[in-house]
Amino acid sequence: MPYSMTWRGIKIAKEELQGSHEEAYYQGIRFRNYQSLGVFSFLVAEILQKQNGTGVYFNGDFDHLCNCYSRLCSTAASKNPRFSIEAERFFSSTTSSTKLLLQVHISLAGDKHMRITWITDDESSPSVVEYGTLPGEYTSIAQGEKTSYSYLFYSSGTIHHTVIGPLEHGTVYFYRCGGQGPEFKLKTPPSQFPITFAVVGDLGQTGWTRSTLDHIGECKYDVHLLPGDLSYADYMQHLWDTFGELVQPLASERPWMVTEGNHEIESILLFQAGFESYNARWKMPFKESGSNSNLYYSFEVAGVHIVMLGSYADHDEFSNQYSWLKADLSKVDRQRTPWLLVLFHVPWYNSNKAHQGEGNSMMASMEPLLYAAGVDMVLAGHVHAYERSNRVNNGKSDPCGAVHITIGDGGNREGLAHNYKNPKPEWSVFREASFGHGELKIVNSTHAFWSWHRNDDDEPVRSDQAWITTLASSGCLADQRHELREILLAP
Ligand SMILES: [Fe+2]
Repeated sequence: MPYSMTWRGIKIAKEELQGSHEEAYYQGIRFRNYQSLGVFSFLVAEILQKQNGTGVYFNGDFDHLCNCYSRLCSTAASKNPRFSIEAERFFSSTTSSTKLLLQVHISLAGDKHMRITWITDDESSPSVVEYGTLPGEYTSIAQGEKTSYSYLFYSSGTIHHTVIGPLEHGTVYFYRCGGQGPEFKLKTPPSQFPITFAVVGDLGQTGWTRSTLDHIGECKYDVHLLPGDLSYADYMQHLWDTFGELVQPLASERPWMVTEGNHEIESILLFQAGFESYNARWKMPFKESGSNSNLYYSFEVAGVHIVMLGSYADHDEFSNQYSWLKADLSKVDRQRTPWLLVLFHVPWYNSNKAHQGEGNSMMASMEPLLYAAGVDMVLAGHVHAYERSNRVNNGKSDPCGAVHITIGDGGNREGLAHNYKNPKPEWSVFREASFGHGELKIVNSTHAFWSWHRNDDDEPVRSDQAWITTLASSGCLADQRHELREILLAP
């Protein structure tokens, strides 16, 4: 073999690899080298790890990996095969596990309710969820709805959405989808503080995604927030299915609240509106929050009002999204929800050279609304790196503005964004191009603890942290109330 490398912390000398340049083995892990993937023309290799009849595919641009993921591939020689990274779960057709993987994910659906989403091959399978607080003892049943979609030559399975509830807060429920099959377990969020959110955008399906998900799985959190770019399927619809399978262990246990990124658009001539797959598979509580689009909505949980905006929905002052946002912010009661968070995909405060200025038009129209409403934190993705700002407004530090965080470092296949603008803007507190995830623990009505955890040789390392106090306790809201009233009353 012409190369040696380090893969997931394992140093593999070239002598230890058995096989050819095209296909080699190391302790049951198969490395394969492809030259082309049709229209997407990636140079692809696969790493297949067999585990109990199931396994994981990692396809990646190996040169790219070597440049961007030094811990993944630290000692590559010049003649490495090139990989385009795309990891997908691989399920052996000879095991019964295929039928057990339903791509289950759950999401909050109004007060005390949870939407259960899953996919079946069988379109006659009923959209029912049985559930209860003891394993195997289902005391309640809910009937939902089903949908499906076609995209060029791909036909989806039957996608079921069933809302269950009312549910008790902070309670473990056991549930089963479609009247048969495996039992899943979920925990509902608490009714009051403290509450913890796991936050990460731009997930993808790579080895680093796996690492990020493992770390999130180890933290005690109540709700997962994802500011866009989920599967990186990019028109290859079966990759939405592998993504659903990849995230099922976490997303079936805690609500995943997502908003869309550019990789969800998938607009082509026949589907110009875009979001065909995203809207069918990741239905969020937009109707419950008075929105007419799955691309933007809001929800409340344990004293926190969270607005999920759409960077790729119209957002000028004449748009439906703008009108809806005005109405939604005007309903926020800071006595009931002292904390106000906003998520969207394209960051407004970004000192990385990647995606510079892409959020400017949305920022121009909507930042005055967020400022007037006293938004505490804005969480975005898109840039594959981490950055935390001071409280900011109108391009500069402002004690009554929001803390902006870019957390697009979940593990996508495109690599990290290493190049920053210099000097660092005065509003930027911390920036680093590494994969990782964030945790936001809202301790009480005034204080929250934010931490960013870098993926470091498969161990989560807390790399940035800050206490944040809500604007509701700062006096800013009294000053801004007049401004908010003026904006809300504007035609
Ligand atoms: Fe993006």
